[in-house]
Amino acid sequence: MNNILNERYFDEYFFEGYINTGISLSTSLVEEMQQHYKNLEEGRNDYPQYFKENEHQAYLEGKVTGTIFNMMPRFAEKMVTKLYDDAYNKAAHLELIYIEKVFEELLQQDFKRFFETRYIVASYDIYLGNSRERRSFTDIHSDVPNFHHFYETENDITVYIPLVDVNEENGGRLSILPECKSNLKVPGNLLLKLYEDAFLDKPDCLDENGYIVPEKIKDKDLQAFIKSASYKELLQIYKTSTALVRKYHRDSFIKSDWNAGKVVLFNNKTFHAAETWTGDDYNREIYMIRLLPVYDTKIQLKSTLHGKPFNRYLIDTHTNEFHKFDNSVDFSKIADEHKLPLTVH
Ligand SMILES: [Fe+2]
Repeated sequence: MNNILNERYFDEYFFEGYINTGISLSTSLVEEMQQHYKNLEEGRNDYPQYFKENEHQAYLEGKVTGTIFNMMPRFAEKMVTKLYDDAYNKAAHLELIYIEKVFEELLQQDFKRFFETRYIVASYDIYLGNSRERRSFTDIHSDVPNFHHFYETENDITVYIPLVDVNEENGGRLSILPECKSNLKVPGNLLLKLYEDAFLDKPDCLDENGYIVPEKIKDKDLQAFIKSASYKELLQIYKTSTALVRKYHRDSFIKSDWNAGKVVLFNNKTFHAAETWTGDDYNREIYMIRLLPVYDTKIQLKSTLHGKPFNRYLIDTHTNEFHKFDNSVDFSKIADEHKLPLTVH
C-alpha cells in the first residue's frame, strides 16, 4: 500500500487499519441512496450467483463440503443461498447508479490527496443491508483473492460508506486488524503472478497488445489453473492465515463509530469482521465502491459480470478527473511509468 497511498495516509492505514477521509456525503445524497435501496426488492441477494462455477470456495470449506459442492451442485447452491440469506436482507451488486454521484462529491473535496499512484479503477459497487436477525459476516476473515469474477489485488481499496450510524449502541461497526499488528496478510498479488504465468504463453488468450483477456481463456485451461498446485497452495495460505489470525489476533482488531455518510477507505484484503447489528428500528446499511490500483501485469479487466458492465471508471489522481469508458479500462493504454510494479512477497 505504501506506493499506492500518500505517505501520511499510508501511516494512518498501517497503524489504524483504515483512512478517515474527513469527507461525508451530502445529506441529500445519503437520503436519496437510502430511499433507492429501501425500494429494492426485499430478499434480493446477488451473492449466490458468484458461487456457480466457482471452485475455490468449495476447496476452502474443506474436503467434505468440497465433495458436496462437486457432487451435488444443486444442494450446494441451496446451502450458499441460505448462508447469504441469513447474512443480509438485501445485497445488491453492480447497480452502479451512485458511483458517479459519490465520486462527484469526493473529487470536489480533493479525494486525490489520499493517493500516491496516478490511476485507480473504480470497479463496481455493493450495497448491503441487514437487520439484527441477519448476522452479516461477523467472523474474522479477509476477502478471498478471486479471479473467476473480478480482477483483484492484495491492495484493493474500498470506499466504505455506512448509510446509517454505526456505533457502540447500534453495533454494525467494521472491525479491522491493522497491518501493523500482524504480517499475516494474504499475498494476493501472487494470484496475479500465477495467472499471468499460466496464460501469457497462450496466444489465443491475448489481445493485439499481448495482454491476457480473461474472456478468451478456454474453460479447460481455466480448470487446469484452478487445479494447479500453486493455486491450491495460495488458498492454503489463505486458510492458514485466517486460522492464525482468529486464534492469535482476535484482541488486536480496532472498531470505530462512524456516522451515516462518512467516507472511510479500507483494504478488504486485510482481516476484518462486521460487528453484530443490534439496532431494532432500522437495518444496518453499507454502501461500498471497490477501487483497484493499476499494476504492470499483462492482464486486462473483465468488462461484464453476470451480464452487467463493470470496471469502466478510471480516476486520475493527478488531474482529479473521473473518466467513464464504454468498455472496461484498457490497461494497455496506460503508460508503464504510471503503473505499479507487481511485487510478490
Ligand atoms: Fe469481507
